[in-house]
Amino acid sequence: MTGIKVSNVSKTLDSIHTLNNISLILEPHKFVVILGPSGCGKSTLFNIISGLIKPDQGRVEIDGEDWTGRTGRISYMQQKDLLLPSRNVLDNVSIPLLLKGVDKMKARETARGYLQDFGLQDFAHLYPRQLSGGMRQRAALLRTYLFTSDILLLDEPFASLDAISRRKMHLWLKDLQRHYQSSILFITHDIDEALLLADRIYVFSARPASVELEIDKAFINNGAQGINDIKYKILTILEE
Ligand SMILES: Nc1ncnc2c1ncn2[C@@H]1O[C@H](COP(=O)(O)OP(=O)(O)O)[C@@H](O)[C@H]1O
Ligand SMILES: [Mg+2]
Repeated sequence: MTGIKVSNVSKTLDSIHTLNNISLILEPHKFVVILGPSGCGKSTLFNIISGLIKPDQGRVEIDGEDWTGRTGRISYMQQKDLLLPSRNVLDNVSIPLLLKGVDKMKARETARGYLQDFGLQDFAHLYPRQLSGGMRQRAALLRTYLFTSDILLLDEPFASLDAISRRKMHLWLKDLQRHYQSSILFITHDIDEALLLADRIYVFSARPASVELEIDKAFINNGAQGINDIKYKILTILEE
């Protein structure tokens, strides 16, 4: 079973109270979205979940084991995750395998097997500067996926894309997640993106971020409340 449980995480950065008692859960094979205003502390939370920084309080469990402050268990695509300009697509996406000690030929062979599913089969030998924004993001996603495939943290991966490319990437990512059965925790500040992708949404307040609202997709689909009512409720939180 692969899942994340964040319990009562708080963090102050440079005397700025950033995260206030955050608790959330990512269940196996689910797509969970964190939605919050810019600067509220979303990326800081991902840095904590991935183990890059330690929380002042609280803990991070993965598969029921304490992973607070430890790296290496999950894949993390940071907000400004860039491909190396001097390497082609195949060599860029092979990097996590090389880091795990796989030899170069084998790493390339393994990575090549995934190019089709990531829509990159015709671009293996192109360099990042020759790719469209959507292709670059798919390559960055494949590189993230090849680090560990079961739990992915994605920090605003489509923020730089135009609306049409973005919409295509949404459909593609949902298909990919179903196919590979990954568990995904995804950050955005875009309400429509959150509603489209999520099985569940956690809405964060402005800094210090706290969980203001938790919305289950089943609840939305049941029509228990109109989608516009929900959007309005979210907006009042984001714009507070
Ligand atoms: N390494 C750091 N040291 C000090 N302050 C930071 C650091 N990283 C982020 N911050 C500050 O913490 C707050 C939250 O940042 P961040 O987590 O990046 O927000 P978000 O991802 O929600 O936009 C911001 O005010 C930011 O300036
Ligand atoms: Mg951020």
